[in-house]
Amino acid sequence: MSKEHRVLTGITTTGAPHLGNLVGAVLPAIKASEQKNTTSFLFLADYHSLIKNSDSELRHKSSFDIAACWLACGLDPKKVIFYRQSDIPHIFELAWILNCLTSKGLLNRAHAYKSATSDNETKKINDIDKGINMGLFNYPILMAADILMFKADSVPVGQDQKQHIEMTRDIALKFNHHYGDILTPPEAVIDKNTGVLAGIDGRKMSKSYGNTIPLFFEEEALKKVIMKIKTNSLEPGVPKDSSDCNIFNIYKAICTKEKIDDLQKLYVEGIAWGDAKKVLFEELNSFLRPFNNEYNKIIKDKSYVEKTLIEGSEKALSISDPIIKEVRQAIGIKGF
Ligand code: TRP
Repeated sequence: MSKEHRVLTGITTTGAPHLGNLVGAVLPAIKASEQKNTTSFLFLADYHSLIKNSDSELRHKSSFDIAACWLACGLDPKKVIFYRQSDIPHIFELAWILNCLTSKGLLNRAHAYKSATSDNETKKINDIDKGINMGLFNYPILMAADILMFKADSVPVGQDQKQHIEMTRDIALKFNHHYGDILTPPEAVIDKNTGVLAGIDGRKMSKSYGNTIPLFFEEEALKKVIMKIKTNSLEPGVPKDSSDCNIFNIYKAICTKEKIDDLQKLYVEGIAWGDAKKVLFEELNSFLRPFNNEYNKIIKDKSYVEKTLIEGSEKALSISDPIIKEVRQAIGIKGF
């Protein structure tokens, strides 16, 4: 039998999940978890959300919504290890250990920190660290601890997270150099499509741009969002270019090849934008409706979601516990 392969990925619990998350992360991760000899670790990175958000109610609600979303979209908690980061104290213990091993210079080069300091520079603020908390600075270490805690082999992430995985590798190798071959340097698995779904204005679909298609809207509300998609001003009857069209882009992400070809033909024939939006709405609505029905059932049963996460954390702890013991031994934190 071939060796067990561990795949791990985390979802920061800020805001409600949208179509970009669904097609870029949720569905591919669920599919990947069905592969043979694979153990999937999927977790809610609730402590990561502290960096950007100090609203406790929003954090709490977002954790629940995201957990319910994963369950509604087909995640089978029996097949994967699905847990909350905050339920695994070993992660935070390992984070401290890794902090003491990581040079500050490495973190100075992290993209998120660099972009925050360069914003200050552009604004001609003398203290380039103004408004930057240590959570933002240390973010890559907490992420490394998330990954190394379970000796994950691969980490599917969007392009924007690639540097964090490279840092995780560096940190793991440094640990192993000092204390013996204990941690696993992970590989990043970057799906080119991850996170690139464009929103209703053509920029990357993202909550911070306010251009998302929410997953769990009733029909009428969904229709309203679709009607807001930006297009050019070509009249009905004029052939249209599908390759540069926000409606077509979203359609492509959810439809089969035949349906895509059919709409392509209508573009050449000069379909009116209003009609193209109707076609997209119909498809999207029937694509999302089963997820919506599941979601509406799940959110009525908070105790089911809670129980599922507790069971997941028990499985996760049974793996992190021996690893943290191994780490403590190796660094000389042990009984006399
Ligand atoms: N930083 C990731 C993001 O914002 C979320 C995350 C936290 C994560 N810990 C992780 C992803 C560990 C993969 C592995 O998208």
